[in-house]
Amino acid sequence: MIDTLFHLLRKPALWQRSDKPFWDDGHISKGMLEAHMNPDWDAASRKHSFIDASVKWLSGVIPANSKVLDLGCGPGLYAKRMSDIGYDVTGMDFSKRSIAYAKSRDAKTEYIYKNYLELDYNAIFDAVVLIYCDFAALTPDERGALTEKVYKALKPGGLFILDVFTEKHFADKANKTSWALNENGGFWSAGPHICLEATHLYENNTVAVDQCVVIGKNEIKQYLIWDTAYTVQRLTDEVSPHGFSVKAVFDNVCGSPYTGEAETLCAVLERGAE
Ligand SMILES: C[S@@+](CC[C@H](N)C(=O)[O-])C[C@H]1O[C@@H](n2cnc3c(N)ncnc32)[C@H](O)[C@@H]1O
Repeated sequence: MIDTLFHLLRKPALWQRSDKPFWDDGHISKGMLEAHMNPDWDAASRKHSFIDASVKWLSGVIPANSKVLDLGCGPGLYAKRMSDIGYDVTGMDFSKRSIAYAKSRDAKTEYIYKNYLELDYNAIFDAVVLIYCDFAALTPDERGALTEKVYKALKPGGLFILDVFTEKHFADKANKTSWALNENGGFWSAGPHICLEATHLYENNTVAVDQCVVIGKNEIKQYLIWDTAYTVQRLTDEVSPHGFSVKAVFDNVCGSPYTGEAETLCAVLERGAE
């Protein structure tokens, strides 16, 4: 027991992966879906008033009647709204629970249960969106591979619209630890458990991991959630080698003008010709 705890509680190696799946876990995905569907919570999805404003803004950026792919669509909060205003939308997510929920309330959108790192389309879409800073949670290799797959999935001139966190979001991140007693279960586990959490910083405080070790009755699990702080330059340097140019940047995915002072950065990337 003590050896396992020492092993799981050490500062993880940069980009080390969780030893347990996270998004598609039977219990965790239940809490996630509740968080998505709470209109006033900025947890798994943004507040629903923000999503309304976001889709309104997107409708001015993505040409009418476009074929749109929503990566990590969750329960379809953006996908359904985009379908409702006339886009031909495909939503992709690897939470079975979220995809089942999305399908149950939106027959117009095509929902696909799939890991978007295994995306395999050829010049099908006019626009691809990846919303709520999920790009920055991927490893550098995954980001490169995904950017290439999105390039392939888009028609020439197609748009890749994504948001990421900035250094402002990292300003109050610090190497810190905490613990919680969840006698009646909680987000990470249905049964009684103790949750030991730590945040660690890497690479001049531009990469962070939230490490959560869950000690249950019969099992100890570890979850690692990574995050990368972006600047416009860093994003440009990452996507240019994969054939994208930065068409416009904003403070968020509602199209607020770019100030460089916000905690997020939204980029509209344009796919070049081959
Ligand atoms: C923070 S939530 C955002 C959901 C949605 N974009 C929104 O803003 O309402 C991230 C979503 O991405 C999904 N996800 C994470 N990694 C994924 C992957 N590799 N392939 C497919 N879906 C993924 C999760 O299941 C989850 O639904």
